[in-house]
Amino acid sequence: MERPIVTDPLPPVPPSRRIAEVHARRVWDSRGRPTVEVEVATAAGARGRAIAPAGASTGSGEAVDLRDGGAAFGGLDVRQAISGIETAIAPALIGRDVEAQAALDATMVALDGTHDRSRLGGNALVATSMAIAHAAAAAAGRPLWAWLADRSGSGVPAMLPLPEIQVFGGGAHAGGRLDLQDFMVVAVGADDWRTALDWTAEVYRAAGRLLAEAGRLQGVADEGGFWPAFDDNEQALAMLTQSIEAAGLRPGEDVAISLDIAASNFGRGGRYRMARADGRPRELESGELAELLLGWLRRYPVVSIEDPLAEDDLAGLAAFTEAAGPRVQVVLDDAVVTNAARIRSHAAAGAGNTALIKPNQAGTLTESLAALEASRSLGWDAIVSARSGETEDTTIVHLAVGWGVRQLKVGSFARSERMAKWNEGLRIGETLVEGFALPPRSAFPWG
Ligand code: PGA
Ligand code: ZN
Repeated sequence: MERPIVTDPLPPVPPSRRIAEVHARRVWDSRGRPTVEVEVATAAGARGRAIAPAGASTGSGEAVDLRDGGAAFGGLDVRQAISGIETAIAPALIGRDVEAQAALDATMVALDGTHDRSRLGGNALVATSMAIAHAAAAAAGRPLWAWLADRSGSGVPAMLPLPEIQVFGGGAHAGGRLDLQDFMVVAVGADDWRTALDWTAEVYRAAGRLLAEAGRLQGVADEGGFWPAFDDNEQALAMLTQSIEAAGLRPGEDVAISLDIAASNFGRGGRYRMARADGRPRELESGELAELLLGWLRRYPVVSIEDPLAEDDLAGLAAFTEAAGPRVQVVLDDAVVTNAARIRSHAAAGAGNTALIKPNQAGTLTESLAALEASRSLGWDAIVSARSGETEDTTIVHLAVGWGVRQLKVGSFARSERMAKWNEGLRIGETLVEGFALPPRSAFPWG
């Protein structure tokens, strides 16, 4: 006689870990635009909350934010994204184990069913994915960074990351006043987080003073960096170097420069239209732009350069990485968009040596972690990054610490959506075994 096949029923999820509520609400970001906040609660009452950030200079392969279109708020409302969470995502997550991050993320990806997350929205997915992690950490009674570190199994000690902090903003974040998007500083000589912030605060103040004295201060750009009215990109580099000196610090020794060229914003098909190449509009070939940037690497204390060529210029990116040499960090953002497969293909082509990790480019924490693991397995470094549209949400700081990522990019040293992240590091450092220590200089290409 045939015996019926009996499958073991899944053990019931205990109330402490059972998702009982997924609630979405519309909140506002640092540009005054609507965005998505999600709260996840377990049956035993543990709660987690997270807010989706938003980019302005996005890579074409990113997870798409779902925006309503129409007249209200420039078409940027997120009511459809909120409704998708309530009607599709919440019913699929309720009753499940809040600790099963990968399975829950996979459920959301399957529910969305598109290659670019355009049905439910990358904004809906990332806010929910991060809220799940917060709720799981709360259920376990652990800070989020510790919860992530416990489970990452990376063997990398939980440490505060080296901050990359913007001083001048340009490109898409400042009305195109400068071609380049971010002029940042990295406190390469600082041993600890607090010192790195102290030095940056002094450089930021000095830069504001020098800019005002030169009559070039126009306010602040989207990420809180000064919005300078320079005639030429290189003037910003010169003034940033002067600002480091004016703060009593040694350029290149204590504090170095990091640039995000964001070249996809002004280049396509290997041709680059710059408004202020040498103070005048010029169209450059890929090789000419590379030469311009390599000249800056020789003349200024620049240790890191992001998106030096456009996302569609793989040959240019590879040639630039080779020419810049192993001591220069070449960061890819738009070309790899926090995607493990893209990181692998770019590494195979010799393009770049460091991946920017922006969870909302991927859509879920699981996919972001896969991108990080891909970069590690290839010998690339990684930088966890905020977006130009941010909020008080500090999840990314916990991701960097918990996942053992050695660098963090958040924008400038002004405005509370940025300062919330730097301040969160000040709290986390009090609880780490390693304290406020930063990774040793020898861990970096410029070491
Ligand atoms: P975004 O830019 O957040 O406006 O897309 C940030 C970056 O390019 O790194
Ligand atoms: Zn970028």
